[in-house]
Amino acid sequence: MMAHKEPKMIERVYGKIGPIYNFIYGKLLFNEGRSVAIKLLEIKPGAKILEVGVGTGLTLPLYPHECDIIGIDLSESMLKQAESLMEERGIHNAKVQIMDATKLEFPDNCFDGVLGNLFISATTYPEKSLEEMRRVCKPGGIIVLMNHFRSENPIVGAMENALNPVAKRLGFTSNLEMVPLLGRVGMKVRKSQKVNALNLWTAVSMVNDK
Ligand SMILES: C[S@@+](CC[C@H](N)C(=O)[O-])C[C@H]1O[C@@H](n2cnc3c(N)ncnc32)[C@H](O)[C@@H]1O
Repeated sequence: MMAHKEPKMIERVYGKIGPIYNFIYGKLLFNEGRSVAIKLLEIKPGAKILEVGVGTGLTLPLYPHECDIIGIDLSESMLKQAESLMEERGIHNAKVQIMDATKLEFPDNCFDGVLGNLFISATTYPEKSLEEMRRVCKPGGIIVLMNHFRSENPIVGAMENALNPVAKRLGFTSNLEMVPLLGRVGMKVRKSQKVNALNLWTAVSMVNDK
């Protein structure tokens, strides 16, 4: 299934919240999780990293200097902010480009690590995006997601189910189940850590066994 409706929806949501995105999703709330996600990538000097759904680039200053990062995103307005941030912070080991995560324009097996921070519940096509992330990641490379997933607590999980119609209108899914999602694309958890406020988010890594 192709994400043909997604670009319009993404611009509707992120075009509007773009200017205040960094205030809402900024370092106060999510940088703990972003830093843990980078650690889980186990980046070696010279590594090539793909960040899918890079948004305004809030993760970019947190990477080690000795790797090369390509960030992709569907939203032009978010990427403009990422470019300004890279210029302001003098980040020279990253570049960003518009691209759909469901149709990555890279050959197979070309990245050592692939990351999606707060991305997998923001796309309408999580399985297709994960398949693409696997395809472009080298065998034995590491794929990391930092995201909110549906709670295993039945009461909290039921609340997240109830909130999902509202969340969908705001451009994300509130009740995505991590293990079943990974299972559908043949991935298994390698390491996982609860992160961010009230430990409501998870940073999870997988080895690309293919
Ligand atoms: C909640 S933001 C997260 C941004 C960033 N990773 C962060 O940590 O702040 C989700 C991002 O995913 C992007 N996105 C959603 N679907 C996408 C797709 N199919 N391809 C590429 N980017 C997508 C959105 O445009 C948005 O910038």
